[in-house]
Amino acid sequence: MKKSSSVSGFYKLNPKERLAFVKEFAGLSDEECLLLQNTGSLPLDLADHMIENVVGAFPLPLGMGVNFLINQQDYLIPMAIEEPSVVAAASNAAKMVRKGGGFHTSSTPPIMIGQIQAVGMKDADAAKLRVLKAKGEILKKANEQDPVLASVGGGAIDLDARVIHTSLGAMLITELHVDCRDAMGANAVNTMAEAVAPLIERITGGRVYLRIISNLATERLARAWCTVPKDAVGGEDVVHGIVSASAFAAADPYRAATHNKGALNGIIAVVLATGNDHRAIEAGAHAYAALKGHYTSLSVWEKNGNGDLLGSIELPMAVGLIGGAVRTHPIANIAIKILGVKTANEFAEVLAAVGLAQNLGALRALVQEGIQRGHMSLHARNIAVAAGATEELIDLVAETMVKERKIRVDRARELIKELGSTRR
Ligand code: MEV
Repeated sequence: MKKSSSVSGFYKLNPKERLAFVKEFAGLSDEECLLLQNTGSLPLDLADHMIENVVGAFPLPLGMGVNFLINQQDYLIPMAIEEPSVVAAASNAAKMVRKGGGFHTSSTPPIMIGQIQAVGMKDADAAKLRVLKAKGEILKKANEQDPVLASVGGGAIDLDARVIHTSLGAMLITELHVDCRDAMGANAVNTMAEAVAPLIERITGGRVYLRIISNLATERLARAWCTVPKDAVGGEDVVHGIVSASAFAAADPYRAATHNKGALNGIIAVVLATGNDHRAIEAGAHAYAALKGHYTSLSVWEKNGNGDLLGSIELPMAVGLIGGAVRTHPIANIAIKILGVKTANEFAEVLAAVGLAQNLGALRALVQEGIQRGHMSLHARNIAVAAGATEELIDLVAETMVKERKIRVDRARELIKELGSTRR
C-alpha cells in the first residue's frame, strides 16, 4: 500500500505518538525507536518545547579546542561538530599563534538591522524623505516594544531608508538599527519591524510586505588578528605557501568558498555548541564576503618584515548569550560557562579568533602534507571501531590500515584477528 506523509494534527500528538507514526511509515525497528528517544542531556519534553513535531534528538560529538590565548586571556573552546580533524586543527593552530602572543580582537557594538519593505508608492523618493523626517516617531514606536532591552542600554538607535529599483519597480526599504546588547536579536528586531509597519504604511502611503531582520549584519562585525612566528608555523616555505593560498582565495571565488568554509568549520562548531543560530552566521559570512560585488575571502594572510605570518579576519557575528536555545538547551548553557565569555561582544570576538585559527590550521595542512593524512587516521579509527576493535586495538588497527592505505571494514576485521592474537 502506498504510504502517505500527509497527517493532520501531527503536531498535536506527543513525541511517542509521533514516533509510532514514523515507525510505521519508515519501518523502524524497536531499537531504532529507542535510539531516537534516548535524548540524553536534552530531555524529550524540553526538546518538544523547542521545535515542532519532535520525535527525538540528534546528538553530536562535543570536543574542546585548547591552547587559545585571546587578548592575553586563556579560553577553552567547546565545539560541536561531526567532522574529524577540525578540533585538532584549531587546537594546533592556536598553539602556533600562542607562540606569537596569541590572538587580538575587536568588535563593533551589537547592532542588527531590521528591514521594512514598502511597495506601491507613487513617489518612492518623496516617501523616503517623509520616513527620514519621522525617524523620532518610528524609533519611539520600535522601542516601546522592548522596554527591557532599552533598560539595559540597547534598543532601536537609528533608522535609514533606501529606495531600491527592482524588477517590479521602486521599493522603499526602511532599516531599523537595533542595539541588541547580549541577545542575538532576531526576536527583538522582528517584533520592532512588525510594530512599526503600520506607521510606515501611513507615512509612505505604500503597502508593507516584509518586516524582518537582515542576516547581513554589517553593523555587528568581529575582527581577530595574530602574528605567527615563522618557526612556529613550519618555516619560510610554509609561510610563503599560506600567503600564496591567501592570494589564491582573494582572487578566486571557487577557492574563497572553501577557504571561508574552513574558517566557518570552527566558528559554526562553537555557535552550535552554544545553541546559537548557525544559519544566520553562515548567511551573514558569505554575504559579507560578496559585499564588494565579487565573492572573496574573509581572512588575509601576509608576511611581515621578519618573515613571520600575519593573519586577520573580519566578519559579521550575530551571536547572543541570552534568549532561545542558548538558555533552554542544558548543554549550550554549560558550553557558555566553559567559554567563560561575559558579553555577546566578547563571544563574537572569540568566534572570530576561532575562525582565524581554523583557517590557519587548514591552510598549514594544505600547503604541507595535505588534509587527507589527518582525516584518514580519524576515519581509520572510526572504521576500526565499526569492525569491532576495542581499547588499544583501535589505534593499532587504525595505524596499520593508514600505513597500508587500506581503510576498509573487512581489512580492519582481519587485523583485529591478527593483532588481537599476537597480543594475547
Ligand atoms: C574542510 O572541511 C575544510 C578545508 O577544505 C578548508 C580549506 O580548504 O581551506 C580544508
